[in-house]
Amino acid sequence: MSVAKKQYKRITVKSLVEMKANEEKISMLTAYDYTMAKIVDRAGIDIILVGDSASNVMAGHETTLPITLDQMIYHASSVIRAIERCLVVVDLPFGTYQGNSRVALESSIRIMKESGGHAVKLEGGSEISESISRILTAGIPVMGHLGLTPQSIYKFGTYTVRAKEEAEAKKLIDDAKLLEELGCFALVLEKVPAKLAEQIAKELTIPVIGIGAGGGVDGQVLVTHDMLGMTHEFNPRFLRRYLDLYSEMTNAFEQYITDVKSKDFPNEKEQY
Ligand code: KIV
Repeated sequence: MSVAKKQYKRITVKSLVEMKANEEKISMLTAYDYTMAKIVDRAGIDIILVGDSASNVMAGHETTLPITLDQMIYHASSVIRAIERCLVVVDLPFGTYQGNSRVALESSIRIMKESGGHAVKLEGGSEISESISRILTAGIPVMGHLGLTPQSIYKFGTYTVRAKEEAEAKKLIDDAKLLEELGCFALVLEKVPAKLAEQIAKELTIPVIGIGAGGGVDGQVLVTHDMLGMTHEFNPRFLRRYLDLYSEMTNAFEQYITDVKSKDFPNEKEQY
């Protein structure tokens, strides 16, 4: 079922701002490889995020911190080879943009040149404003990411909802406005109260895409492996599972093993 208001042949950063102005919600999912990206793109998604969640989902790390720039470029270039329509945003991994705007620019240029990605995403507000400005001067579109920023997990201590207290909520609003002023084309808000997220979405002209930020924002993002039910041990309240692929795949693998052991596979038609 398609509910898009306007048909876009290719999604650009401009299309997204137009979607917000037309009150069309923006859909975004993660992908880290060719096969998944092809399915997600052909289904009609607006944005694929090559998230540093690849560190958890693909590599099995506990946090997003270990993934490297080379690994992100590998994932992003696999995704880019698959897509025809959507915009591809690539996360700058931990340690490749904080504290040194020149390093941030070099990291972003490597992503754009070596993967073919269309934009980069960075976590943080005023602390990284210099890096954001410098990346933008090279003509590279930047998506911001505020609220729960998993690269700072050791500062937060937990993955609980952010900005519940007034002081943190105020900083979040100020940072969101700053990111818009600097020239970010969109902003991800992760795990913040729905009312606060809605207020920020109303106050900004750039699209605000939420994950665990309620329905009052301009779009939604989920990690594809979570929404497909492949990562069944991860159960946050905001996650809607559209499939139970963990069970489906387990059943398929068990059946295959049974068929091999029982010599049912391959049969006469499945050989040369
Ligand atoms: O890396 C990622 O998948 C993300 C989303 C959770 C927004 O940053």
